[in-house]
Amino acid sequence: MRDFDEQTITNAVQTSFAGTPDARLRQIMSSLVAHMHGFIREVEPSFEEFQAATKFLTATGQISNQRRQEFILLADVLGVSMLIDAINHRMPDGATETTVLGPFHVADAPLCANGADISAGVAGELLFVDGSVVDPQGTPLAGAAIDVWQSDAEGFYDVQRPERSLSALRARLCSDAAGRFWFRSIVPAAYPIPDDGPVGAMLRATNRHPWRPAHVHFMISAPGYQMLVTHVFVAGDQYLESDAVFGVKTSLIADFVAMPPGALPDGSESAQPWRQLSYQFGLKPAST
Ligand code: BEZ
Ligand code: FE
Repeated sequence: MRDFDEQTITNAVQTSFAGTPDARLRQIMSSLVAHMHGFIREVEPSFEEFQAATKFLTATGQISNQRRQEFILLADVLGVSMLIDAINHRMPDGATETTVLGPFHVADAPLCANGADISAGVAGELLFVDGSVVDPQGTPLAGAAIDVWQSDAEGFYDVQRPERSLSALRARLCSDAAGRFWFRSIVPAAYPIPDDGPVGAMLRATNRHPWRPAHVHFMISAPGYQMLVTHVFVAGDQYLESDAVFGVKTSLIADFVAMPPGALPDGSESAQPWRQLSYQFGLKPAST
């Protein structure tokens, strides 16, 4: 175990992991070493560049805390999160496509009845959402648990507004006997991902923007089905083709249809123009 050169060092490091009892961990370490060494042989970093890389990763760790996960954000902007998502969610026909979870989900959002206004008084254009939850054959799923969360009309989530202690624009709902759920909200806006840390610095250094197109997040679960984590994006948004985290799929873009003042689907009235989002979510059976 000595006198390694640019080529033989890779096999030596891989061999050092040969005694790893867990076969999967052994595979991961061996592959990690092969790819990292391949990357370094290709790029040939200078010592200063190596120091800059360790400084970047140190800063990424230092800015992270229970609420801010800069390493996940880094994975998001490098397309790693969406690649892992794609590998782990190969969906059958009839099942809704998945996308990134993001950092703004809160586990214990208010439980709301269908028809509730989840805006908590936050200003914006009225949005009526009517959704349905079905299996891949289109059979309605009653009693599905639906978590919904979204940005406000200025592109902020409630957790980004420390001046407001209120939970807003997030809720937990339940599908009815026909698999349907519905609620009132406001139209979400596009927003930049948190870009005041090392990930933001990397985006600026590479001339990339931090914006995500406007969307509403959904997390839907029902017994016997895989949990669905997805968004519905607002058709026409200027960032649909350049989402900072590569999360857009065509099947997840929907018209938030502009409606004139008058009756809403739940029988209530709006004196202002409003918008309607109708979307059917297909869940994948757990066994497939
Ligand atoms: C989000 O959609 O909430 C999000 C996803 C990835 C990174 C930042 C935000
Ligand atoms: Fe989001």
